[in-house]
Amino acid sequence: MTDSRREDGFALGVCYYPEQWPREQWAEDARRMRELGLRYVRVAEFAWALIEPRQQEWDWGWLDEAIDTLSEAGLLVVMSTPTAAPPAWLVQQHPEILPAGSDGRIRGFGARRHYDTASRVFREHSRRITRAVARRYGQHPSVVGWQLDNEMADHDTGLSYSDASLAGFRRWLSERYETLPILNEVWGTVFWSQGYTDWEQIQLPNVGVDEPNPSLALDFQRYRSDTIVEFLAEQAAIVRELSPGRWITHNVMRLTPDFDHYRASECLDFVSWDSYPTGAVAYSDLDLADRLRFARTGHPDLTGFNHDLYRGLKDGRSFWVMEQQAGQINWAPSNPLPPAGAVALWTAHAWAHGASVVSYFRWRAGLFGQEQMHSGLLRHDGTLDRGGAEVAEMSLPGLPVSEHRAPVVLLHDYESLWAFDRQRHTAGASYWGQMLLFYRALRSLGVDVDIRHVDADLAGYQLIVVPALVLCDTGRAQRLARWAGDARLVFGPRAGSRDESGRAWPDGQPGQLAGLLGCRLLNIDGLPPGMAVHVAGHETTIWAESYRLAGGEAVARYDDGPLTGDAAVVRNGPVATIGAWSATLIRSLLRDELAGLDIATRDLPDGVRVTRRAGRAVLTNFTEAPVALDDGTPLAPVSYRID
Ligand code: GAL
Repeated sequence: MTDSRREDGFALGVCYYPEQWPREQWAEDARRMRELGLRYVRVAEFAWALIEPRQQEWDWGWLDEAIDTLSEAGLLVVMSTPTAAPPAWLVQQHPEILPAGSDGRIRGFGARRHYDTASRVFREHSRRITRAVARRYGQHPSVVGWQLDNEMADHDTGLSYSDASLAGFRRWLSERYETLPILNEVWGTVFWSQGYTDWEQIQLPNVGVDEPNPSLALDFQRYRSDTIVEFLAEQAAIVRELSPGRWITHNVMRLTPDFDHYRASECLDFVSWDSYPTGAVAYSDLDLADRLRFARTGHPDLTGFNHDLYRGLKDGRSFWVMEQQAGQINWAPSNPLPPAGAVALWTAHAWAHGASVVSYFRWRAGLFGQEQMHSGLLRHDGTLDRGGAEVAEMSLPGLPVSEHRAPVVLLHDYESLWAFDRQRHTAGASYWGQMLLFYRALRSLGVDVDIRHVDADLAGYQLIVVPALVLCDTGRAQRLARWAGDARLVFGPRAGSRDESGRAWPDGQPGQLAGLLGCRLLNIDGLPPGMAVHVAGHETTIWAESYRLAGGEAVARYDDGPLTGDAAVVRNGPVATIGAWSATLIRSLLRDELAGLDIATRDLPDGVRVTRRAGRAVLTNFTEAPVALDDGTPLAPVSYRID
């Protein structure tokens, strides 16, 4: 496979919908794309009904012409499988392909993503349309790569509670457990008299009167995730067969929880994600002051975390931002206009975190449909919008697309996310929340962070940070223990609290990790909003857990509340465990660990970050005020500098 992503270094692209514009305009659009310095154009991810207006009736002419027009202008085409928007005729013919929400209601035709990956009928049609598109364009000289579908599981479609999903779940369970006595044992169905004597008695986790059995819910997530992994893999196999030498990617959305992205990425050459920084702030856990402060620019750690997370899916391979916000969006509760400089800042920031291509969404603001209020590089009338003007001025293309390892790694696991978020126990506690707490602390200290799956090869990392690792069986605990000594490890709250089926450990928490951590859990304290306890003067909100020493030593203890005097931080040789949800205490612990490893730290103001790539340091200021850095140099509002 030729790696056309790398030929000329960092490059720019755009998402284009030729079907929404008169044909006479395409050539001029293509010419202007080139003029703006764009290289890649993604097309056709929602074009199924236009390609196949009735079953087996094909209309390729318009897309042939659109691709040829782009190609004649010297642009490279990213072709898509159009399965994210199944046509009305298919839904009419096969309503059983539709997903159902957790309220049991069928989610019908009228927007997009109205299909269920559990539906065998849909999967057959997905393979059919993929084959048709790949056969048509797989060998086109300008088609350099493929996007599969669009934002799997977005719009809350990862979990579907349809009949197809129920039937598939029962099948999946019978393959996993083989007999019901085993399933009953693993799930603990003796609780509330939930024992099963027939596979058909098993229901989806949305129908019960109260909360479902957490082990059933965890397996349901696994099952649903498997349907997505298989769905992408079967499309990828078809594209590989019919489009040799081209790469395959998929564009995931920010913090999507409902499938295991590591497994889903196995069939891809590289990962892409869609970055909408203002939307990320609008839906974040940031406090009100920060939500306002970063409403127009996005928060560097929310965007940076996603860059690092998705770079980690393929062990650090450079990724694409397939859709980069280029002005105001239209889907958050409020959609403020980004300030001058934001689009350039986001682009530089993406490069710094490992992007090889940033592709803007979308070329021109739409005249009709759901995206009328969404900006593009051009306004509705075709004049260059503010984002487009910034792209025209940009000098970033051509930067090297090297890969490297950070000294620090944050470990991550979708199954722990599913287990954690099913039993949050207190308002404000969430898996992503705890990950971001540690991530922000590290980034505010000026260090680069890799994110890897908890079972990845971690050789070479100096500091391994493990927040919210709920699920930890014996094998995983042993693997983690192997890194201790070569590296230091820091564990966060709820470490090792469940086995792989979601059961608590009979000899107490943290189960298999007790030897490594040198302590055992004593108590947990879920703090309601507005309540705090303290550890060595540091405010702790949301969550506090305390430990009995079992080989380790107490580094810090609770000052007040019911845990007064109990250990909040335990050290056991190269391993530290912190049970307090405290931004300042976590930061101070991490600073000490980094100092002990001789990794230089800085004191960066919130909103200002440094990221290193290819021997360069990229300084970014996401605030709308000028800042003076700790080395005395100034950074203008909403700007970056590459040293
Ligand atoms: C993305 C989606 C695009 C477009 C965009 C608008 O999530 O993939 O098709 O809708 O949002 O911001």
